[in-house]
Amino acid sequence: MRADPEFKPLVTERLVLRRSRREDAEPISAYRSDPNVNRYQGWDRTDPEGIRAEIVEMESRAPGGAGGWVQFTVEERDGGRLVGDVGISAVDGEPGVAKIGYTIAPAFQGRGYATEAVRALVDYAFGTLGAERVRAFAAAENVPSLRVAENVGLRLVERYEHRHGGQVVRYELARDER
Ligand SMILES: CC(C)(COP(=O)(O)OP(=O)(O)OC[C@H]1O[C@@H](n2cnc3c(N)ncnc32)[C@H](O)[C@@H]1OP(=O)(O)O)[C@@H](O)C(=O)NCCC(=O)NCCS
Repeated sequence: MRADPEFKPLVTERLVLRRSRREDAEPISAYRSDPNVNRYQGWDRTDPEGIRAEIVEMESRAPGGAGGWVQFTVEERDGGRLVGDVGISAVDGEPGVAKIGYTIAPAFQGRGYATEAVRALVDYAFGTLGAERVRAFAAAENVPSLRVAENVGLRLVERYEHRHGGQVVRYELARDER
């Protein structure tokens, strides 16, 4: 996979995905602190300072490169409201694999925004980054998350017990399956 240090925002019909900025920390904290959003995510901190620190840390990383997650803030094109965030990360020891994650604030859920944003992210992973495989993990009971993965063409490849309990599913799409 290629690193993309010159990332240009991804524009869809209704949304823009751009690199997260420090001033996004407050609105992102507001929805990540919602128990319904937080319960399926592995975030250590959801307070504005913690999120801001993560954004600062990610500034030095390039999407597709080493070092961990790079997060994009999802905004509406019309009016610029911040509606969620998505992330992409290379996987240690698996050079062609891009791992993705996604969150939409409750006030903006149910409009197809996650599907639209994640479709753009998957296209970007295969196109600009040259990924061979895109992967997403979710709690098996998290139906909206599974629907998003399925909507953009990812397929269930594995289901297993999480070490802290509960079933986890792994969804993937390979370049030659598209
Ligand atoms: C998962 C999430 C990103 C979906 O965001 P969204 O913008 O509402 O998603 P979409 O509008 O694109 O809808 C996705 C699908 O979920 C379905 N869905 C939404 N809420 C649902 C619910 N409560 N029960 C069943 N299905 C539901 C929608 O009908 C849609 O399916 P369809 O395309 O077959 O009609 C959002 O619910 C979220 O952020 N949840 C909390 C964080 C999270 O779990 N992230 C994923 C971790 S792996």
